[in-house]
Amino acid sequence: MKGIIFNLLEDVMNHAHGHHAWPDLVDAAGVSGAYTSLGSYPDEHLLALTDTAAAVLGLSSADMLRWFGRSAMPLLATRFPQFFAAHRHARSFVCSVNAIIHPEVRKLYAGAGCPHFHFTDRDDGALIIAYQSPRRLCPLVEGFVAGASDHYGETVAMEHLTCMLDAQPLCRIAARWPA
Ligand code: HEM
Repeated sequence: MKGIIFNLLEDVMNHAHGHHAWPDLVDAAGVSGAYTSLGSYPDEHLLALTDTAAAVLGLSSADMLRWFGRSAMPLLATRFPQFFAAHRHARSFVCSVNAIIHPEVRKLYAGAGCPHFHFTDRDDGALIIAYQSPRRLCPLVEGFVAGASDHYGETVAMEHLTCMLDAQPLCRIAARWPA
């Protein structure tokens, strides 16, 4: 996992819980703590950090990842305004992740293992987001979609239809934005 993800976690933890939050978390998780944005670090470090934070904050691991993704979006909007400016709604922003956002991320952060999504429109208007990654970070997907919706002043309802964490081959998440 690229260091920028760890840097985002540091920023959201310190912002929400004070400037000791990150060093305390690094100590408690037993990881190195020195993450440069362009470096690559074991996925296990990120999970050790988010699982430890979850335990301290009394959240489930999934809720911690959701909170992280949602809280990180405003920071991503500051750092990558061009990805957001091209859209007026969260739905089209989210749908640009394969063709625009993650390809640019791969150019900027060599070695980034960004996931590829498959999007389909359901008859009732929901967007079906299919996600498959060995990292199985589907709650982070939900957090990013929620954070993107916040950014555009929208509400979103999400439902996990199938989940890799329940031994399914892929996650399918239905996202609905009221018209
Ligand atoms: C400004 C927008 C975005 C930026 C800059 C961004 C950037 C990144 C970066 C740097 C990584 C780490 C890759 C690695 O370390 O190997 C990543 C991973 C990831 N991104 Fe994005 N991303 C953005 C938007 C999104 C959105 C909208 C979604 C969901 C629809 C998303 C879903 C994910 C997930 C789930 C991962 C974890 C890796 C995995 O599951 O295998 N990202 N992204």
